This record gives sequence, C-alpha cells and structure tokens, in this order.
Amino acid sequence: MNKKTIRDIDVHGKRALVRVDFNVPMDKATHRILDDTRIRAALPTIAYLREHGASVVLMSHLGRPDGKVVDDLRLAPIAARLAELLAVPVPCATDVAGPSAHAVVAAMKPGGVAMLENVRFERGEERDDPELAKQLAAFGDVYVNDAFGTAHRAHASTAGVAAYLPAVAGLLMEKEIDYLGRVVSDPVRPVVAIIGGAKISTKIGVLRHLLSKVDVLLVGGGMASTLLKAQGVDVGASLVEDGQLDDARAVVAEAASRGVGLALPQDAVVAERFAADAQPRTVGIDAVPPGWMILDVGPETVRAYEAKLAPAKTVVWNGPLGVAEWPAFAQGSVAVARFLAASPATVIIGGGETVALVTELGLAPKYAHVSTGGGASLEFLEGRTLPGVAALLDREPGR
Ligand code: 3PG
Repeated sequence: MNKKTIRDIDVHGKRALVRVDFNVPMDKATHRILDDTRIRAALPTIAYLREHGASVVLMSHLGRPDGKVVDDLRLAPIAARLAELLAVPVPCATDVAGPSAHAVVAAMKPGGVAMLENVRFERGEERDDPELAKQLAAFGDVYVNDAFGTAHRAHASTAGVAAYLPAVAGLLMEKEIDYLGRVVSDPVRPVVAIIGGAKISTKIGVLRHLLSKVDVLLVGGGMASTLLKAQGVDVGASLVEDGQLDDARAVVAEAASRGVGLALPQDAVVAERFAADAQPRTVGIDAVPPGWMILDVGPETVRAYEAKLAPAKTVVWNGPLGVAEWPAFAQGSVAVARFLAASPATVIIGGGETVALVTELGLAPKYAHVSTGGGASLEFLEGRTLPGVAALLDREPGR
C-alpha cells in the first residue's frame, strides 16, 4: 500500500483518533450484537496503539440515522462488547463532539480506550462538513482510519478529519487494501473472479474492471439471467434487468476480445415462485419452463466452475451464485464455498451476503482474506478511488 500506516509514525504518548467501522448487525429489540466480526477486526489496531503508548478515541457510525439522534442506534452496546473483548473499560460518550465527548476524552489515561457516540447523529458527518471534521480532530493528535467498510464514503470522520491531523491507515485498512489489491494489481496468475448477486446493474462496473485483470470470470446469481438473456437464452420468469442487456452484451464481447474465459451457468435450479419453500427443480439452462425462475446454479455448473477454479492461484469471490439465504437455493454457493475452503489458492471473499454465507458455514478462517467491506470492496474492485484511503498520507517513494 502506498499510504502510511500506524507503523510509520510515533504514537507514543499521543491520543489516536481512530475511525472504525462498527456498523454491525444488531437485534433491534434487544440491542444484542448478532455478528461482532467488524469489532474483532479492529482489535489489532487498537492493541498496537495501546502497546505503543497511545490512548485510543474511537469513532464509528451505526446504521443510517440521517443526522438525528436515534436511540436504537447508540453505540453503548458496541462499546460494552469491545470492553469485553479488550478486558478494559471502554467509556462511551452520549454525544459526538459535545460536552459528554469532551468529558470522556479528558478523563482518558495513557493506554485508555474510549468511544464517541454514533457520528451519523451529526448532520455534518455525511456532508463532510469541515466544522465537524475540525471538532473531531480536536480529540486526537493523530488520525487513524481503520474503517475499510466505510472507506468509500467521503464523510467528516472518514475523510474530512484527515485535513487537520497527520492521517495514517490502521492495520485492518492495510490488510484489506493489501489483499484486494492482489486481485487488481499484479495478481499471481491464474486469477479467477466469481461474481454473483441479484442485480447486474450493481456489478457491471466490477465485471468491466475485472475483465482487464483476471484470466477467468465465473458468473452466477440473479445477475447471470441478464447475461444469459443477452445471449439469447430463454430464462423464463427469472429476474432480468432489460435496461442492462446492451451492457451485458458489451461485457460478453469484451471478454471475448480480451481472451478472458467468461463462464455462465450451464444448468440451473429453478422454481415456480420466489419463495424459500418453493419446490426446486434442476434443468438444463436452455430448458427453463415458461413462468419458472432461476434461483441457483445447478450441479453441472458447479462442476464446471470447480474445474476452472482448480488451477487458480488467486481467487476473488463477491456475490452468491443463488438465493443463498434459502437452503434449497444455496447449494451452488455452498459447494463453491467448500471447494474454495480446500483450495491452495489465495482466496479473497467480499460482499455482505457472501461473507455471511461463509461465516455461517464456519469456513471463514479457511480463506486468505474475508473482507469487512461490502460496498467498499465492490468499489475497490471497480477500480475506484476510495476517499477514506485517498485522504491518508502517502508513503515516501522507495519505502
Ligand atoms: C457498510 O456496512 O457497508 C458500511 O458500514 C457503510 O455503511 P453505509 O452503506 O450506510 O454507508
């Protein structure tokens, strides 16, 4: 990574203002955290800073409160979980930059950890208001961005604040950029991308960018139906974005002209209605019954995709191959997840649904990297500049 990290600066005796992404799934009624992966993922940065003599002021968003205080989106339960994981108290302010935040930060001891309230309670956050950025900057001597999951947002706490403090990446940010960067810059070949998910409109940028990077592109999920229809296949009542057919044709043509092996489903698991309990049936891709819809890839496709994945040295997977939250239509994704878990390739998993699937299967530790970023990992794979990364100090050339 060409950005400075916490390892490049002296943090001893300093207060580090650290943006984390603790936007975790929570049970609305009980405020119980349903998955603390993102909190655990920030632990190495917090530990490093404390071990090197810094105190740590954390800031995060949770949900989309839209510039208002929403009690269900307060960060106290998250601070409590972090305190458990760190085995130290983590006081949490009840405001972002007001009297409570000032009191909590003023009371911090060297090595201490504290948290500001949900930054999106402030209207200036999503507008990247320089006033708010300045107020936040007053809480630290250095700024550390470890919130890869929010790095695609140019907000006061993710980008604006970097104008007022020396700004470096945390260890999670560094790891994310390092692994995702292995796909788009100088990957160890062969490199295979698996792109799935419901809608091709959200993935067309990724498909196009990856065509210039990868050797093989395997496509699944609802989005495959648009590509299949663009190829003249009758996909019955499957989800098709007709407005994307031209783009889909362009992707197919570009793959051919670049010599990228673009693979589409050869068979499918179909159903008569879009429901978890619909009766599944496996058919050849050219035999989808009228009125039926494709809800997963079939076993022949899985075998073909596994054959293409077998020689890969680098694999990136974003988006399930079917409706992964419904067991009857998750089998294609589950089979590929298991196959990749046993693969010697560097496997990088990104995207909320794909990460949820491999986590539920207990396979997450088997891959080289499971990204904490949904939208952020997608934008990175599209080749876009992430504002939260761009705002950080550049590393001197040659270091
Ligand atoms: C995410 O969960 O993708 C990040 O925390 C960003 O959240 P946002 O889409 O509300 O900006």
